[in-house]
Amino acid sequence: MTTEPAADRPLRGLLPYLLESPRAFALVVASGIAFPALAITTATLGAWLVGSALAGDSAGDLAPGAVALCAAAALTGVAAWWQAYISHDWAFRVLAGLRVRLYDGLERAAPGRILGRRTGDLTASAMADVEKTEMFFAHTAGDYVGAVLVSLASLAVIAVLDVPTALVVLALMALVAVVPFVLAGRAGEQGRALRAELGGLNAEALDGVQGLRELTVFGRGGWYLDRLTARTRRTHRHAAAHARRAGAEQAVTDLLLSLGVVLLPLTAARGGLDVRWLPPLIVLGLASLGPIAAVSATARTLGEVRAAAARVLAIIGFPAHVADTGTRALDGTDAEVRFEDVRFRYDPAGPDVLAGASFTVRPGETVALVGRSGAGKTTCVNLLMRFWDAEGGRVLVGGRDVRTVPVAALRSAVTLVPQDVYLFNLSVRENIRLARPDATDEQVEAAARRAAAHDFVAALPEGYDTPCGERGARLSGGQRQRIAIARALLRETPVIVLDEAVSNLDAANERAVQRAVDEVRAHHTVITIAHRLSTIRAADRVVVLDGGRVAATGTHDELLARDAAYRELVAAQEGP
Ligand SMILES: Nc1ncnc2c1ncn2[C@@H]1O[C@H](COP(=O)(O)OP(=O)(O)OP(=O)(O)O)[C@@H](O)[C@H]1O
Ligand SMILES: [Mg+2]
Repeated sequence: MTTEPAADRPLRGLLPYLLESPRAFALVVASGIAFPALAITTATLGAWLVGSALAGDSAGDLAPGAVALCAAAALTGVAAWWQAYISHDWAFRVLAGLRVRLYDGLERAAPGRILGRRTGDLTASAMADVEKTEMFFAHTAGDYVGAVLVSLASLAVIAVLDVPTALVVLALMALVAVVPFVLAGRAGEQGRALRAELGGLNAEALDGVQGLRELTVFGRGGWYLDRLTARTRRTHRHAAAHARRAGAEQAVTDLLLSLGVVLLPLTAARGGLDVRWLPPLIVLGLASLGPIAAVSATARTLGEVRAAAARVLAIIGFPAHVADTGTRALDGTDAEVRFEDVRFRYDPAGPDVLAGASFTVRPGETVALVGRSGAGKTTCVNLLMRFWDAEGGRVLVGGRDVRTVPVAALRSAVTLVPQDVYLFNLSVRENIRLARPDATDEQVEAAARRAAAHDFVAALPEGYDTPCGERGARLSGGQRQRIAIARALLRETPVIVLDEAVSNLDAANERAVQRAVDEVRAHHTVITIAHRLSTIRAADRVVVLDGGRVAATGTHDELLARDAAYRELVAAQEGP
């Protein structure tokens, strides 16, 4: 099931992104050729001038060469700038696209697949891992082509001048190029370990920041710091191992270059070559090793790049958690919700959470879904919203199996006010408008009024423009819930689901929200999950979940009269 095709060949998986804009890529490659070619030309020209001076040429003879050298040097500077500019500009554009697709992957898989993973780890993928692939785009793709072409061209020139020297250069090139590949296995392993470790560290740090209040309340700050320190040490060990290997590679490469410095003059001077050509030959030989050495230097980090790419591509390749293949239209008028013998479990090896649950919520009806904690109430909502799909039975909205309707259409017919509301660090207005981006300020305010939120919002320092703080931290729990209800009311969908939406409200506010819910009841189908007796009593009908099935349905009064288990449940809700 978990086909992550790109993940075992991560760099190959990045290739399509590379070729997405062939023109831009061609320019990057051109700049990757132009810069080293000009750099080598400059060095060789300089060496030729030295050789000519040694051979006794007059200043007048050298003048044209000197002018050419100045021009070549200037052009090299420009080429260096051009290459750095366009390769990075291009890389960051590709990276931006990669981030969008990463987010797409997350969204497709949400929330089913995401719940099992640590947020910090996912954040690391979204930020640091994508960043790491910049190395591949900016420093690998263009550079490699340039290095190979320019080095081979230099080699050809050397071969024309002196074949034995060319053979020595060829041998050195091969050795320099081969070093990273010999150590590639280790590099891959270390890169993977390091990236995973960094992801873990990130998750740990984020956990600590998010749980700061709990750590302070329980006085566990020191304990947490110890954990973080231990983790940091482990990351450090991995980073050090990585650095040791990279250092060894660098040393071997440097050694080979030094060997070239010794060998090339020896072979070049051996023949009866004109002394004018001797310095350029040596310089050309060494310079042509340069791009290969530079490429091998970037190859040292490829292990890490490959690991980062694998993590990014794995998320981009997340298969959709539910198959969005439905095509049937949902018309907004028939808003019946029906569960038919629904069976479901989260964990294939685990117990059934729903084991044949059946109930119907008629259009315009308000049904309270009740049951012990863990009975599967939120699970019913997860199936209705298609965050997961049922294993057996059917969930129907407006008489259509939810699997036969496009997910977007389904979600624009059903609005959920979730148990754990999330508010963005945006203004109150923008948070409400999330439900309907084209809503006017008046419509936003009207929704807030109906959700009994207008008064407290108006009293905030900047009214509707007040930022809600990180995760809505600047608002109270009850205020957050009312903002969430305002969102749902703004959306005006045929079905509204309130998952414990009024649990944080005091009695006065609950009545206000209840009035708001009553108001839309006539035109909407409402499922309200509640522990509060007042909410349950206000519903038209009650559906009691127990043991994965519907244990009883009826009005509150009927159930009280005939169902002992219900009486017990209600007594438990009411408390002592
Ligand atoms: N994402 C998940 N992965 C695995 N198991 C889950 C997941 N979500 C819920 N469960 C399990 O499924 C069961 C039903 O959970 P559910 O959230 O539907 O309960 P609930 O009736 O809404 O409870 P509460 O009143 O406490 O909100 C529980 O045993 C829970 O542990
Ligand atoms: Mg729940």
